[in-house]
Amino acid sequence: MRCVSVSNLKPGDVLEESVLDNKGRPLLTKGNILTQRHIEYLRKYRIESVYLDEQNSPLREESSICRRPCEKAMGILHESAYLDLPYSSENVEILLTQRICDATIAILREMANNLIQVSIPQKRDYTRQVGQIVEEIIDELSQPHCRNSLSFLIQLKNYDFYTYTHSVNVMILSMVAGIPLGLNNNSLKSLGIGALFHDIGKMSVPIQILNKRKQLNAEEITQVKMHSLKGYYRMKEDGFLDQNGKAVILQHHEKVDGTGYPNKRKGKDIHEFAKIAAVADIYDALTSERPHRNHWAPSEALEYIYSIAGSHLEVDIVTKFARSIAPYPLGSFVQCSNGMKGYVVDNIINPHRPVLQVGKNRIDLNTKFNITITDIMF
Ligand SMILES: [Fe+2]
Repeated sequence: MRCVSVSNLKPGDVLEESVLDNKGRPLLTKGNILTQRHIEYLRKYRIESVYLDEQNSPLREESSICRRPCEKAMGILHESAYLDLPYSSENVEILLTQRICDATIAILREMANNLIQVSIPQKRDYTRQVGQIVEEIIDELSQPHCRNSLSFLIQLKNYDFYTYTHSVNVMILSMVAGIPLGLNNNSLKSLGIGALFHDIGKMSVPIQILNKRKQLNAEEITQVKMHSLKGYYRMKEDGFLDQNGKAVILQHHEKVDGTGYPNKRKGKDIHEFAKIAAVADIYDALTSERPHRNHWAPSEALEYIYSIAGSHLEVDIVTKFARSIAPYPLGSFVQCSNGMKGYVVDNIINPHRPVLQVGKNRIDLNTKFNITITDIMF
């Protein structure tokens, strides 16, 4: 797969990825063989570059292939893969060459901004608010006095890439849920930082256990459960996190009925930010593909979350979380219970029952309650 500038496209090129406009609506779908008219259409919509299926597209000069900023940054980090070092103060200096810091920050910014675009229903004011706070968090993280915190994120990325991406997702989803709960910008920032580091203690769990395909035994479960406590002690003296952020790390596996860990806290004894991160954590984990199971559809994940509201999770937080996120982002391609497949073209009226473009027809699932979405294809 290669990213090619639209100015260098040729008739006969085959799209490897669907092309969306700036509102996330599909312009051309994956597998399309481009004609001159298609190329003009892409120019008209000011699309800068597209991904091509290299094997089925005409050959081209290397110079016509462009790289998006994130790909450049990923290249730098790939070169630094040898930096999979256990934490020690000497290693921090090795980890933190300016090049690696800059690349990490660039990727983090792009991942977070992409997620903001898809996790918030169309036209919500939340997009700008969460975007501004994320920029503040990332700007601060790139400052010299936060190098220690940044080094932990770099190590987490090198240790377990899934947990790293999951942490960025939980940061965004927690903040989206925090707005309707009435948190101000300072609180949202503390919550976001805590959520970004919530699983930092996973670096203390052997990687074979984190990636195990079979069921964990009792000893392995005990080791996994130590991650919140170990993460808390790792970040306890870190100046980037305040007490609220540290509470997220320590308490995000506590349950409102007192059956969680590490301290079996109950109800009001659990910090509100930890309760918010707990909902975002479970939702993102269930909707992600894992070595031991397939991803769940967003509707299934929300059903599950509702089923444990009141016992494990706070009811009010679950309700506001479910109303705030966009389980079916604009432009996503979904499959329905009647076999129908289509693109999400509107998710503002009811984010859980969006309007689909199915061939030439628009199907509003908010008026067709006998049809449910069973999977997000991409
Ligand atoms: Fe966790």
